[in-house]
Formats: sequence, C-alpha cells, structure tokens
Amino acid sequence: MYRSHVLVCGGTGCTSSGSEHIVSALEAEIKQAGLAEEVKVIKTGCFGLCALGPIMIIYPEGAFYSRVKAEDIPEIVSEHLIKGRIVTRLLYDETVHKDGIQSLNETQFYKKQHRVALKNCGVIDPENINEYIAYDGYQALGKVLTEMTPDDVIQLIKDSGLRGRGGAGFPTGLKWSFAKASENDQKYVACNADEGDPGAFMDRSVLEGDPHVLIEAMAIAGYAIGANQGFVYVRAEYPIAVKRLQIAINQAKEIGLLGKNILGTGFDFDLDIRLGAGAFVCGEETALMTSIEGHRGEPRPRPPFPAVKGLFGKPSVLNNVETYANIPQIILKGADWFRSMGTEKSAGTKVFAVGGKIHNTGLVEVPMGTTLREIVEEIGGGIPNGKKFKAAQTGGPSGGCIPASHLDIEIDYDNLISIGSMMGSGGLIVMDEDTCMVDIAKFFLEFTVDESCGKCAPCRIGTKRLYEILDRITKGKGEMEDIQRLKDLSQFIKENSLCGLGQTAPNPVLSTLHFFEDEYIAHIKDKKCPAGVCKDLLRYSIIEDKCKGCTLCARACPAGAITGEVKKPHKIDVHKCVKCGACMEKCRFGAIVKK
Ligand SMILES: Cc1cc2nc3c(=O)[nH]c(=O)nc-3n(C[C@H](O)[C@H](O)[C@H](O)COP(=O)(O)O)c2cc1C
Ligand code: SF4
Ligand code: SF4
Ligand code: SF4
Ligand code: FES
Repeated sequence: MYRSHVLVCGGTGCTSSGSEHIVSALEAEIKQAGLAEEVKVIKTGCFGLCALGPIMIIYPEGAFYSRVKAEDIPEIVSEHLIKGRIVTRLLYDETVHKDGIQSLNETQFYKKQHRVALKNCGVIDPENINEYIAYDGYQALGKVLTEMTPDDVIQLIKDSGLRGRGGAGFPTGLKWSFAKASENDQKYVACNADEGDPGAFMDRSVLEGDPHVLIEAMAIAGYAIGANQGFVYVRAEYPIAVKRLQIAINQAKEIGLLGKNILGTGFDFDLDIRLGAGAFVCGEETALMTSIEGHRGEPRPRPPFPAVKGLFGKPSVLNNVETYANIPQIILKGADWFRSMGTEKSAGTKVFAVGGKIHNTGLVEVPMGTTLREIVEEIGGGIPNGKKFKAAQTGGPSGGCIPASHLDIEIDYDNLISIGSMMGSGGLIVMDEDTCMVDIAKFFLEFTVDESCGKCAPCRIGTKRLYEILDRITKGKGEMEDIQRLKDLSQFIKENSLCGLGQTAPNPVLSTLHFFEDEYIAHIKDKKCPAGVCKDLLRYSIIEDKCKGCTLCARACPAGAITGEVKKPHKIDVHKCVKCGACMEKCRFGAIVKK
C-alpha cells in the first residue's frame, strides 16, 4: 500500500512540455528521500488542460499542480510528500481556496464536463493492464461472452442510441447488425484511429490514456458480428499512442484476453496495428481499408458497403476510437444510462478538442446538447484580450463556421447540420474579431486541395478552382460574379465527388458565405479586409498626431520603409512596405494603424 499517489500526465501535450523529465526527477528525489515504498509515481494519459502542462496531481489531497518544472520537484517532495504542506504557488489558480484546496471537478473547466469516453484518461496508468482491470476493465467483455448472445449485444447498442463519433454519426448498433447479417466464414473489425482533422486529438488521447478500452470494445464488436480478427489503423505521427497500444495488446494477449479461447468461452479474437502515413483521405472508410490491404489509400465507390464487402473483400465493421470507448460502459451500465445523457437523437457525450482564440484550450467531454456558449464562455473561459467572439469552426475541413448569433445552439449531430456545419470528429476552433472569414475558408480549401487523392475530377479540379477564386478575392482581385461562381461550383463538387472528402470540401466556403457574405463583399467591392488579415488589402500608416518621433518603428522596419526625424512624426512609404507588422508591434503610442 502506498500512502500517496502522484499522477503525472504522459500525454503528447505534456510530454512535449517536458513531463518525462518531471517523472524521472520525481522518481530520483523520492528514492533519495527514502519514500519509494510510500509514494507511487504513475504516468497517466491526458487530463484535458494540455496548455498548462506538465500537469501533476497528488492524492489523497487532490492537489493539482500545473506548469511544473524539474526545479520544483525538490520542493514538492520535501514540502508536500514529506511534510504534508501543499505547494500553493504551483496549484492551478482556480483550485486555490481560502479553506484549503478545491477539487478539480469544481473548476470552470471541469464543472460541466462529463467523462465517459475519457473516464480513465488521467486516472490510470495506461501501461498497466491491472489498473484498467481495477477500474472495471474487461468486465464488459466477460459479461458479453458469458451472459449475452451476439444479438443481445447488438440490440443493447441499438437501444443506447450510440452514433459514430468519427463524423457522420451513423448508428453503431445498426452498422453492427448489417455486418452480423452478412454470412461469411471470415469477418473483420477495424478501428479508425487516423484522426486527420486539423486540431483534433481526442482519439490520440484515448489511445495514450486508456488503450485497453479500445481492445475490450473491439473484442466485443468481434463477438457481436462474428469476427476473430481486428485491425487498428493509426497514423504513424502518434508514436506514444502506438507504443502504448502495442504494450496493451501484448499484455491482453499474455493474460488471455486476446487470442484463442478468451476467458475459456471458446471465443477467439486477435488484434493488430496498421500504421498510416498521415494522409487525410485514408480516414475515409473505404480508403482506410484499401490502405490496410497494402494498397494506395484511395476511396472506392459504395455500395458495396464495408458491412458486406469490406477488408480483404470480407464483411467488416469500422468504428472510430471514441465510438468504441463508449461500448464497455454501455454494456455494464445499460442503454437507459447512456440515453440519460445527451439529446433525444444524439445520446451520450462528445469529446471536443477546443482550440483557437480561447482561454482554456484543451480536451473537453460534454453531454450532447451542451450549448456552444457553455463551451466557449464557461468551460473555455471566454476569449482572451477582451476580444469579441466571432465564430466557431466545427467539423474540420468538412465542417463550417457557427456565428455569434448561434452561440446558444445545442450541439448535436442534427443541429450542427441544420446550420451548415457538422460534428466531424470533434475539432472546435474558436475565432475572435481578428479572424477573416474569407481567409479561413481559403485555409481549409488549401488543406483539401493538398489532401484530395485526385481520383475524381470534381474534387481534384473543382477544389483547386474554388481555392483560386478565394485567393483572388483575398488579394483584392475578386469580382461580384465570383460569389455566385463559388456557390455553383461548391454545389457541383458536393454532388459529383466520389467520396466524403469532396462531398464536404465546399462546406467551409458555403457556411462562411452564408453567415459572412458581407465580408466577401467588402473584399471584392471595397478592396478591404474588415478583420485586417489579408495582406494585399492592408495598408500601414502613421497617425501624425499620435507619433512622438521615437524612431523605434524605423529601426524595426526590415524594408527601410519608415522615415522621419527624431521627435518629429514619421511616415511609411507604402511602396516599400512589405506589411510585416514589426513597426506596429514596436510602437508604444498606438500611432501605427493597419487598415
Ligand atoms: C475524407 C474523410 C476523412 C475521414 N477521417 C476520419 C478519421 O480521421 N477518423 C474517423 O474516425 N473517421 C473518419 N472519417 C469517417 C469514416 O469514413 C467513417 O465514417 C468512420 O470511421 C466510421 O466510424 P464511426 O461510425 O464510429 O464514426 C473520414 C471520412 C472522410 C470522408
Ligand atoms: S472525392 Fe476527392 S478524395 Fe474522394 S475519391 Fe474523389 S478525388 Fe479522391
Ligand atoms: S509593416 Fe513592416 S515593412 Fe511595413 S512599415 Fe511596418 S515594419 Fe516596415
Ligand atoms: S514607434 Fe510610434 S511613436 Fe515612435 S516614431 Fe514610430 S510611429 Fe512614431
Ligand atoms: S497532454 Fe497532459 S493534460 Fe493533455
């Protein structure tokens, strides 16, 4: 028995801010203090507040330390672990309370969250199967194999209302029933851990923080549809996730939770990892399967759907990591429990990777139906620097922008689609008044143009043409007819592309046009970028009355575009200016403006 547990986050975010050093420094210091038998150090998965990393939590007190440095370790050991005095200066500010420390669950960031898919992330050691088992792990698999028929399992998942968390929101139970109904002596279960949406990292966090949940869920899926082999397709850019998943698979095999005759029930199930090279299109289900088969990851026409003809031509089920992460708890706690969270048509919770212009960036899991305002203003802590909320982008390159007028929208699959956006895999990027919506549409189009596999012309050529029109507009060379051109071309690409990449690629254009058409018009007619982003439409100038002639700007200008005498108003030569903004940063008198 240990008297104290020190949990240090070992997620990618905290690892990149140095949590590995923290763990080794901590272990060394604890050993030196003779506490190795009393204090246990556990490397966990992500807590969600990645921007504050490296993060550490010490139990039984529940002290939540953020931005811990190696130099802080001696103090943590001598004060907290030896003398029992909490190191207040390292506490996350919201947990500091006049009567001691407040639980992390009471903070703005966690108060409205409800962790289901992330239940064990930040709680258990992902490299130790016993910790997963201690948190009810593999009980659902045991229950399924000993007490339920495959049809019972599928009915329960159907009743729960679980929908795919990979983007399209297809009912999971229904998908499994199709694969079960396809007669074949060989079937497969696959997991989509490609996570291609820019800014999204929820699947990575589950793999890093709780890899056994995926193994357990995939084995359950295998039992339900009659498959004895599974594949996890994960991008090679996720080394920590791949490593922990492999460790977890090895451990599960060692104790007979994967392999032949699992739990003595006669059920066989094996699992392998396949690495993807990070191409966005390989997240599309048919492309993913083609890639696992060892070919170039290009989408195939559907039908036939994977449930009939999937991996290696055999009936297959493909689900997203987060979808699977819900399965064991649904089996143990029931469909009504799952339905008690979320909305009528979107049961359960959703994990979002919240980023952009917001105080608390990080990983957030909330019941479906939570409003965008709650996420942005309460959990996210609002927009920094007193700026105004302009829009939130959901669904990555396949999604759209939600303007301030829809801040009270309850987020679920159908509501997002009704306003021209979509859930996607859960990226949520917050934008403030300094964001140009034409530029944002162009950013996502550039991504799609790069990632299009090129197999079909509407996507390959169409998205490039869309990009070119947007580029023209941001350079002040647009014409009013371009707006209709953008709409017509978008419609054409959506209707004629072979796969979901092309079918959704125009969404960012259409949604920004719908909610922010005035910004497009300002770029085209007035040759102005209202947010002050599009370089070609900007002009830097000096307000004479405010300029003190301090010369700082002139010294900072790399183009020699600023002239003037000391203590006299300066001037910018617009022909020489390369619009780098260095002068504006230097001026302490607010004398330089860009318009
Ligand atoms: C271009 C494209 C990229 C996709 N990328 C992903 C991805 O990275 N992860 C994912 O789970 N689903 C992705 N999907 C959706 C998958 O095709 C598929 O619908 C999903 O993995 C099914 O699992 P689910 O029902 O659990 O959501 C993508 C779809 C398209 C069209
Ligand atoms: S829509 Fe785009 S990504 Fe999909 S098959 Fe066609 S070219 Fe490839
Ligand atoms: S924006 Fe850059 S190039 Fe232009 S005047 Fe300022 S410092 Fe010089
Ligand atoms: S830094 Fe500002 S105050 Fe100083 S010379 Fe330049 S514009 Fe004038
Ligand atoms: S990676 Fe450490 S809190 Fe997210």
